[in-house]
Amino acid sequence: MAAGRAAPEVARTEAALRERLGAWRRGGARIGLVPTMGAIHAGHLSLVDLARARAQRVCATIFVNPRQFGPSEDFAAYPREEESDLAKFAARGVDLVFAPEPAEMYPQGFATSVTVAGLGEALEGASRPGFFTGVATVVTKLLILAAPDVAVFGEKDYQQLLLIRRLVADLSLSVEIVGAPTVREADGLACSSRNAYLSGAERARAPALFRTLRAASREIVSGRPAAEATIWGRESLVEAGFARVDYFEARDAATLAPLAAGWRYGGSAARLLAAATIGRTRLIDNVAVEP
Ligand code: PAF
Repeated sequence: MAAGRAAPEVARTEAALRERLGAWRRGGARIGLVPTMGAIHAGHLSLVDLARARAQRVCATIFVNPRQFGPSEDFAAYPREEESDLAKFAARGVDLVFAPEPAEMYPQGFATSVTVAGLGEALEGASRPGFFTGVATVVTKLLILAAPDVAVFGEKDYQQLLLIRRLVADLSLSVEIVGAPTVREADGLACSSRNAYLSGAERARAPALFRTLRAASREIVSGRPAAEATIWGRESLVEAGFARVDYFEARDAATLAPLAAGWRYGGSAARLLAAATIGRTRLIDNVAVEP
């Protein structure tokens, strides 16, 4: 454990979480929530910093949510490193960690899910059926349970961030959602728990995802039609050694709706988003289309 910082208290049950947060709230503290699936890296810690700047008490969650993994995805292999996660949270000043077992979150008979139509169906939603319903269900539950004043999510999962903003507005949840800029390694690769799956050779090729997104964004800003730049982006990723490109698309930055045919920079704000597989690892990233 890092010197000078007490280990955060760990709540394993909904009752323990409610009791601790309720006491802090009654004492007048603003509560910040940072939901994670663990395997904590610099990106997660930047979310903690943003929560700490906006709240007196910070609660992080560690829950590898089975409902957001498809049958052929990496639920079993997903890294579980609770001890080192707690040490990292302690060093960053997290006050409480909620780390429930699946049966605590989804007890026998659990039958409710939250689906965000439209936004949840494109891009990641099209490539990973059921993924966003799993995310929306667990995030709704965490927001109801913790009732935070503010919750922080990374822009690396840009579509997820928009979807969470949508469900919070639609369900009238009283929480401020803050988006945190993507934290990157020195070579541009976005921090992700799944980077741990990459072999040495794959890791060396992986930064091409961000480089290609940035290059396509520059092309669009200099006048190239978005449709042409995204075709170039897909081809470039394949040339860079990505085995499969699920999507490389420019979308409306606020709604993720497809851009009009022939769209060029200067219209509505746009975002470039990509998902591609290198070896057996699927990586996602996105950039704003701006100078
Ligand atoms: O982004 C993640 O780590 C997860 O999708 C989240 C928001 C913690 C829900 O399980």
